[in-house]
Amino acid sequence: MKKALITGITGQDGSYLSELLLNKGYKVYGLKRRTSTPNLENIKSVLDKIDLIPGDVLDLTSLINAINIAKPDEVYNLAAQSFVTDSWAQPIYTGQSTSIGAINMLEAIRLTNPDIRFYQASSSEMFGKVIETPQSETTPFYPRSPYAVAKVYAHWITVNYRESYDMYTCSGILFNHESPRRGIDFVTRKVTDAVARIKLGLQKELRLGNLDAKRDWGYAGDYVKAMWLMLQQTEPNDYVIASGETHSVKELVEIAFDYVGLDWNKYVVQDPKLIRPAEVDLLLGDPQKAQKKLNWKPDVSFEQLIKMMIDSDIKKVKSNI
Ligand code: NAP
Ligand code: GDD
Repeated sequence: MKKALITGITGQDGSYLSELLLNKGYKVYGLKRRTSTPNLENIKSVLDKIDLIPGDVLDLTSLINAINIAKPDEVYNLAAQSFVTDSWAQPIYTGQSTSIGAINMLEAIRLTNPDIRFYQASSSEMFGKVIETPQSETTPFYPRSPYAVAKVYAHWITVNYRESYDMYTCSGILFNHESPRRGIDFVTRKVTDAVARIKLGLQKELRLGNLDAKRDWGYAGDYVKAMWLMLQQTEPNDYVIASGETHSVKELVEIAFDYVGLDWNKYVVQDPKLIRPAEVDLLLGDPQKAQKKLNWKPDVSFEQLIKMMIDSDIKKVKSNI
């Protein structure tokens, strides 16, 4: 039986990846940092099937301990301070968890068992103020936030461990991916939750920042399949994972309100306080390498994704009334 250790297991991607690996017959271990109140909502359906190991990616000892307990064949490093906005408020913590966290995990592997295969959760935010469109594996990076800068370090250290130590390390450059389990701060979930509340008469307005920003959005359930595929190849490599379509925040809002029969103009208020110090205006990925080499393609479209999230949020909000 194959064994996997996932950092960031309580997050959106960690939960979908756990389900995928369990379905493939893996024994799944998750690194879980201590929180003062429980945050196991995303993984409640798999809690009795996985083993949680206490630890933090900033604490190398806890990572070595986790590897000694799990003895994994594969490690998926998903842990990070992942909200771009907060990376300006907490730049040093973001740098530590998002970049030093990755090298800590790589060192833990190198020192215990360098044959373990390693996946690093890299990000399209690294393209930032984009040099070319669409963005592929060869597009130069131009990071535009403390988060994105930290991800560039984690990306290159992953490449360097492959080239220096001949370790099987992969970096997945994933474009935005969402789901009903997306954190409430991110724009898709903020919109779908607000649409559900407004439809049910519990909220009157939705305050947003830049409506013109464009993102290449996909479904998290599709994207975790690509993470697994990267670790099943004969040679390690880096891949862009994207839908190959881009949409503005305004289009997202229009589709979401339209789905419940409301006019977004009556509810959306632009709030200058929500504009970022530096913006990433346009992301559009070129997923051809993943399509050809991994035989990966997404199944859920942008519209299906938004509708799935609204349906889920309406259910959640109703169950709390
Ligand atoms: P998420 O929902 O924010 O989950 C982040 C996870 O990291 C949580 O489980 C969190 O634990 C954990 N974590 C944070 N700091 C930690 C620390 N110091 N030690 C151990 N665990 C820590 O993020 P996601 O959307 O699932 O994304 C997964 C990864 O992919 C992240 O690295 C993100 O930056 C990257 N990524 C995401 C996207 C996207 O569109 N979703 C795109 C590209 C890359 P708590 O629950 O305790 O907070
Ligand atoms: N969060 C948020 N809230 N974003 C808003 C809002 C708002 O009220 N109004 C407009 N936006 C715009 C942001 O300015 C940004 O251009 C876009 O919506 C998307 O913002 P987020 O959903 O917060 O995601 P992100 O693109 O900054 O980052 C996500 O994707 C990255 C991959 O490209 C995160 O998941 C990162 O961790 C990930 O690496």
